Amino acid sequence: MLEPAKNELLTQVSRGTPMGDLLRRYWMPIAAVSEFDTESVKPVRIMGEDLTLYKDMNGTFGLVDRHCPHRSADMSYGFVEQCGLRCNYHGWLFDQEGRCIEQPYEDVAHPEAHFRDKIRIKAYPVEAQAGLLWAYLGPQPAPLVPNWEPFSWKNGFVQIVFADVPCNWFQCQENSVDPLHFEWMHMNWSVRLADQGAKYSPRHLKLAFDEFDYGIVYRRIREGMSEEDPLWKVGRVCLWPNALFTGDHFEWRVPIDDQNTLSVTWCFTRVPKEREPFVQERIPGWRGAVVDAETGRWISSHVMNQDFVAWIGQGTVTDRTREHLGTSDAGIIMMRQRFLKDIEAIARGEDPKATIRDQETNRCVALPIADRKRLVDGLTIEEMSRHPMVAGQLKDYIFQAGQPIEVRAAYAAAMGIRD
Ligand code: FES
Ligand SMILES: [Fe+2]
Repeated sequence: MLEPAKNELLTQVSRGTPMGDLLRRYWMPIAAVSEFDTESVKPVRIMGEDLTLYKDMNGTFGLVDRHCPHRSADMSYGFVEQCGLRCNYHGWLFDQEGRCIEQPYEDVAHPEAHFRDKIRIKAYPVEAQAGLLWAYLGPQPAPLVPNWEPFSWKNGFVQIVFADVPCNWFQCQENSVDPLHFEWMHMNWSVRLADQGAKYSPRHLKLAFDEFDYGIVYRRIREGMSEEDPLWKVGRVCLWPNALFTGDHFEWRVPIDDQNTLSVTWCFTRVPKEREPFVQERIPGWRGAVVDAETGRWISSHVMNQDFVAWIGQGTVTDRTREHLGTSDAGIIMMRQRFLKDIEAIARGEDPKATIRDQETNRCVALPIADRKRLVDGLTIEEMSRHPMVAGQLKDYIFQAGQPIEVRAAYAAAMGIRD
């Protein structure tokens, strides 16, 4: 149970709030690079800030205020130029650093006034990495965009998947350090949805949580497992500050505002050995619905949709004064304490946990990965079809509902399976 003031402290994300300022010390994935193959301007909302993301004709990405500093027109209806984004109301043009580089009327009528030199639009840095666009809303100097090890893996098909989840980000992130829910929310609920009489899956017998440089590792023993199992010896990662990393995929919970979260998944599927060498030309990005259009209920058929049901079900901003934490929640307590300590750390002028500033460190940041060998070396199609964790992936995208047919077709072609 948490007192109301602490609940507010951990969940509020606007600029000027302690947690909002802490989260602004990290790069956030906000879109897929490939979204800009067909569009050049897009409205986005991150941590309560309304912004406009664009790619100009030079190929430079920019992230600026949603509203023009002239008379507040909506910049997401602006249009790009060779350099920068132009407001569609009176044509003021801004570059990616926020400088006003043209004011068509003032430049001609009163060039001597240099009015544009006095104007700036709010602008944040954007970087492309691993097919994602990352934004940094914090103070300079910015740290580096983390170059997590899987971003450099070869022979994989990567897809980026989004969902708009109508609840606060922090309860989504608490799920990243909650191994027990896997047994109930994914295994047992799934089998019971399919068959009311089905048997439950093996129980969790032992859990462990260990903090490390880039997050918290959680480890588990279930019935029938030995302590030699990689899920106990290596475990999985609650990745700082707002992600889950399981080995083949990352899931970020990016705060849109206090009541909404952008779920961003980066999913790597190793192609069968027979398909090597495989070089992916384009990393697709797609957005899945969370509501079943027929029933009006939350979709429950896929892994992450099941998670969404839990997160949203806890209430828009869950009331932690009502909770009763058990020993399975030790990781959640650990995570909250680390955030509270890091709020104090940034007030002292220190970097918070998992900030990477050293280029050498960032050449390739290794994380605990239970099945690295399979993901790096690959399996034959025959081995994949016999592998309990992989066989299902040969048939469908299991993590989220709504995969478009063209992504499915690209995936099938990469894997060498029939669509
Ligand atoms: S409101 Fe943008 S140029 Fe006038
Ligand atoms: Fe889950």
